[in-house]
Order: sequence, then structure tokens, then C-alpha cells
Amino acid sequence: PIMDELAGRQQRELALAQRLNIAHCTIVPGDSTAANGNLASLAQAASQVLADELPAGKSIVAVMGGHTLANVAEALTPTLAMNRELLFVPARGGVGESPAIQANAVSARMAQRTNSDFRSLYVPEQLTTATYKPLFAEPAIHEVLQLIAQSNVVIHGIGQALVMAKRRQMTPHVIADLTAAHAVGEAFGYFFDAEGHVVSKFPRIGLDIADLAAKQLVIAVAGGAEKGTAIAAYMHLAPAQTWLITDEGAADFVLKK
Ligand code: BG6
Repeated sequence: PIMDELAGRQQRELALAQRLNIAHCTIVPGDSTAANGNLASLAQAASQVLADELPAGKSIVAVMGGHTLANVAEALTPTLAMNRELLFVPARGGVGESPAIQANAVSARMAQRTNSDFRSLYVPEQLTTATYKPLFAEPAIHEVLQLIAQSNVVIHGIGQALVMAKRRQMTPHVIADLTAAHAVGEAFGYFFDAEGHVVSKFPRIGLDIADLAAKQLVIAVAGGAEKGTAIAAYMHLAPAQTWLITDEGAADFVLKK
């Protein structure tokens, strides 16, 4: 029966990857957004996929923020960096998250957990074009931006549009616009509808979804039935090599649609 269960899980992973049109899926049991759910198994699975898939030697790992990614950081161990030289960087600039789950904090924590290096990107969110142009030219910022551009590995979360808009304290006006445009999901500062049409994009500094296609390894970590619509929507925009780590809650939702 254990073998059957394993074969069943693998079949569902294949089916989900096919449905979402991406390279790989890992499905862990449970529903992380349920009342009794947690992010520990998703985080554990992400840690395992990294251990298996991170190339040997040097890598620059660009990471996004969020509760999911903060949990992934806690699941990492020094063995990940055993035959590797890892440098963690935030994938994008500040996004108005609470400090512990900002990309800077998550990348620093991943470095600490694996005895690796990290670099921070200190830029405020929501810059006007007039401000960020000269900021780009600042040597300390320019250097980190170059490292981010050179990253070969990206790990990111996926959020629900309105949850993220509220969490980032966007104005009622902006939230009304997102609602009117049927935004369901958010990733990398992009808000998109169920078909993956980008309905709004908040210019920030760092990686863009368009940059992901050139990356060696792209891991999305997001689970829970509540996030099902957002996850399926994002996969219309995701690069083909994306490896989704999710749970039964989200997988069920997507496969039943
Ligand atoms: C944010 C990222 O930090 O985390 C978003 O900027 C992402 O792109 C979100 O959607 C996911 O957050 P959580 O808490 O649901 O893992």
C-alpha cells in the first residue's frame, strides 16, 4: 500500500505539472491554508528539491519574501552548501511587508541557515522613476542589482491578489481597481487575472517575471486550496522550467477544475 500511495502521488504530480504546463510539481499532504494547516511540509519539500536540484559549485540564489519563503528558510541546513558556494540575494526591492518576511530578511536567513553569504538590497518600495534612476547608479545598489541579474536560481511565493494588496497597504482606490480588473493572483509585484493577463504591475527594483525564462532553476512554493486560483493563474505567466512545490489542498483544487 505504501508503494501504491507513492505511485499515486507521483501520478498526481505528473498530472498537475501537465495541467499547469510546467516542468515539475511536488505535492505534499494536507492543506497549508486550512485552520489546522501549516507551512512546515511545504518548506521541508522545498528544502529537499533544493538539495536535489541546486547545481554543484557556485550559485546566486534570488529569493522573494512572504510567510511561505520564511518557512523555507527555516527548513534549510548547512548540508545544502556542502559541495556548493551559495550567495543569497533578494529577488526584488522592498514591498512593504512586515520586516521578518521581507525578501532581504528571508535571503539573509537562508544564508545564515546554510553558512553561506548574502547581500541585501536597501531600497524603499514605490519609488518614482525620477528617484530610482539615480538610485540605480549608486555603486552599492548597482552591485547588488547586478548580482540579482546574474542569479541562476530563483525561489518565490505566489499570493492571492487582494490578500497581498491589503498586506501591502495599497489604497482603497488601487484595491477597487484590482477588483474591477478581476485580479486573482500576485507574484513578483505583478497582479494578474485567472487567465494570467497582467492587470497591474507595480514597478519595483530587481527581477521581473520576464527574466525568469533564462534561469537554470526556478522554484515556486505555494499551497492551500485558498491559493488554488492564484497558483493556476500565475502558471500562465511562469517560465516552462518552473518547479512548483505545493500541497494536496491546492493540487485538488486545480485538478478538479
Ligand atoms: C511576498 C512576495 O513577499 O510573498 C509575493 O513579494 C508573494 O510576490 C507573497 O505573492 C506570498 O506570501 P505568503 O505569505 O502567502 O507566502
